[in-house]
Amino acid sequence: MSSSAGEIRQAQRRTWAGLSSGWETWDAVIMDQMRPITDALLAHLDLAADQVHLDVAAGTGEPGLTIAARTPQGRGVLADLAPEMLRVAERRAAARSVSNIETVVCSADGLPFEDATFDTVSVRFGFMFFPDLPAATAEIARVLKPGGRLVSSVWVRPQDNPWTEIAMAAIRAEVALPPTPPDGPSMFRCARPGYVSALYGAAGFGDITEWEVGVELVTATAAEHWELISAHVSLAVAALRQVDEQARERIAAAVVAAVGRFERDGAVRVPGVALCIAGSKTAPGA
Ligand SMILES: C[S@@+](CC[C@H](N)C(=O)[O-])C[C@H]1O[C@@H](n2cnc3c(N)ncnc32)[C@H](O)[C@@H]1O
Repeated sequence: MSSSAGEIRQAQRRTWAGLSSGWETWDAVIMDQMRPITDALLAHLDLAADQVHLDVAAGTGEPGLTIAARTPQGRGVLADLAPEMLRVAERRAAARSVSNIETVVCSADGLPFEDATFDTVSVRFGFMFFPDLPAATAEIARVLKPGGRLVSSVWVRPQDNPWTEIAMAAIRAEVALPPTPPDGPSMFRCARPGYVSALYGAAGFGDITEWEVGVELVTATAAEHWELISAHVSLAVAALRQVDEQARERIAAAVVAAVGRFERDGAVRVPGVALCIAGSKTAPGA
């Protein structure tokens, strides 16, 4: 049975409240992994110094904080469903002396902003968790100025993302995980090429492009890789709740052994691939 939009929002809020401390603990490693995505998205935004930017599903603040830091006369709004994630974003902003931001707790499918408020919008790894993707994309289009740019990223196939799939395979060897409903929130829900572009098109965006960007999750050791994954990857954290301590130890040992093959230059570098999507809100009469 599929869940209602309200149930999905409630479950997502709980999930990300629980993951926020793992994201804060591992902030430097996670942000290094995601940096190529931020760079790719920013390259498609054509930022002005007085930009008014909205980062939807901003979580602990990226890429919204990086954009705010580069647009000192502008303003950045970081919107997310989970206040706990936004509190981390506020602490990260203070640590980096980025003061031209505000945080807003809301769902992507009900943005509390006037029409045509923002020059640009970003959604880094958020689309897959929204209860109603067409409604969220239409909301983003509504709050963007005509001609404004939307950039986003989603994960591609699990087999191209060993940084998370190695742990999931080790978990599946211990416990039968229920299949993810195709329309329910999950990390790989938007993996199909063209899926997010079609959402953009239906919401009135033009000039749509999508392209793949590689990432690397770099940890000092294989044990650190496991610690990090088991603390912040939504799929893994949820699945690990279903196993006992002995099974958890077997999973940890299997992951540590499997990621050993990615050791290079004194670190463990496990690859992954994301899809980035950019488009412009079509101006009336264009
Ligand atoms: C993988 S994190 C991405 C955080 C950040 N953009 C980044 O890339 O580091 C996903 C975020 O989506 C948020 N989220 C989930 N459902 C949402 C919704 N309906 N509306 C807004 N944010 C949502 C979660 O609270 C979480 O912070």
